[in-house]
Amino acid sequence: MKTLLVTGGAGFIGSHVIRLFVNKYPDYHIFNLDKLTYAGNLLNLTDVENKPNYSFIKGDIVDGDFIMNLFKEHQFDGVIHLAAESHVDRSIENPMEFVMTNVIGTVNLLNAAKAVWKDNFEGKRFYHVSTDEVYGALGNEGFFTEETAYDPHSPYSASKAGSDHFVRAYHDTYGLPVIISNCSNNYGPNQFPEKLIPLFLNNIRNNQPLPVYGKGENVRDWLYVIDHAAAIDVIFHKGPDGETYNIGGHNEWKNIDLIKVLINVMDRKLGREPGTSEKLITYVTDRAGHDLRYAIDSSKLQNELGWKPSLQFEEGIEKTVDWYLNNQEWLDSTTSGDYQKYYEEMYGHR
Ligand code: NAD
Ligand code: DAU
Repeated sequence: MKTLLVTGGAGFIGSHVIRLFVNKYPDYHIFNLDKLTYAGNLLNLTDVENKPNYSFIKGDIVDGDFIMNLFKEHQFDGVIHLAAESHVDRSIENPMEFVMTNVIGTVNLLNAAKAVWKDNFEGKRFYHVSTDEVYGALGNEGFFTEETAYDPHSPYSASKAGSDHFVRAYHDTYGLPVIISNCSNNYGPNQFPEKLIPLFLNNIRNNQPLPVYGKGENVRDWLYVIDHAAAIDVIFHKGPDGETYNIGGHNEWKNIDLIKVLINVMDRKLGREPGTSEKLITYVTDRAGHDLRYAIDSSKLQNELGWKPSLQFEEGIEKTVDWYLNNQEWLDSTTSGDYQKYYEEMYGHR
């Protein structure tokens, strides 16, 4: 029996990682530690919540004493660390929350692992889940590789870069057995509707304006969330200590082109005339410090560990749209209360 701590498991990507590990590894006990911020939702995990190899713990990674005691109590063999403040726009409004959770929270976990594992690192692993945004922005050409120098531009990406540096420092200084991955934009079921795809699907459904930042010319490289979870599984089990792997599906889209795909699929599924919802497109003030383009070279992961994306974008978008249309209860639960206030503050004045 192995005990594994997954942080942020009630969030978007974390819930898919939990589902994969709980079902695939009945001989692991998976502890899901999550603060249940606005982005954490236990509805994401109803299908696994009663499994004997799964436990949920509500707690804050910023609380160093709590984290240290948790590690002493459970003697985890491995950590998959996803808990984070994850939305760029929120980081522009409130950078300090990002420093606290993403930097201090990560260092608390590193300190606890180091203290409890002492110098006996045999069979132990600290996996830090990071983002391609640490590399900054590309022009029209080229890709981020694992050698690309860090150049973060938003408070979010700066805090993730800081956490990556601490993880590597604990490897180089104390020999902690760490591994890091940097992934591109994820999409799929259970993503909080502040991020582009679920926000726009919800707004198309409700005939609300689609707030396109700037001219809609920024480019993102989209990966289906279940493929990210599969990559995390492969890297966690097969990647050598101290390594970094980029994860991405070579699937670049200019925002405005992607938005038109979303409109086409939604209009078809809602029985509207093709293109009806294009009238909802509303160009608004650009995001401050908006990175032009992200694109990942994941050849190291593909060549060394044999991972590759399982599906094409068109199929992933169909599945995603179906999920949001069939899960109105989930959407309603996430878009009530504080969400309305957030939306008004974020988009009311644009
Ligand atoms: P998310 O915002 O959907 O979920 C984050 C989870 O962390 C939530 O359940 C939240 O309750 C929890 N959390 C936040 N602060 C916490 C704290 N102080 N203590 C304990 N739990 C806390 O995020 P996501 O999109 O699922 O991203 C997960 C991880 O993957 C993040 O580290 C993010 O940087 C990284 N990542 C995300 C993407 C993407 O496209 N979404 C791409 C690459 C990397
Ligand atoms: O690249 C990985 C990153 O992808 C993750 O690390 C982050 O956690 C995740 O949030 C995501 O960051 P982005 O900023 O790229 O994602 P977002 O969905 O916020 O925006 C995608 C693009 O769409 C971006 O160019 C900004 C634009 N956008 C976004 C929103 C929310 C709009 O034009 N209008 C919007 O309302």
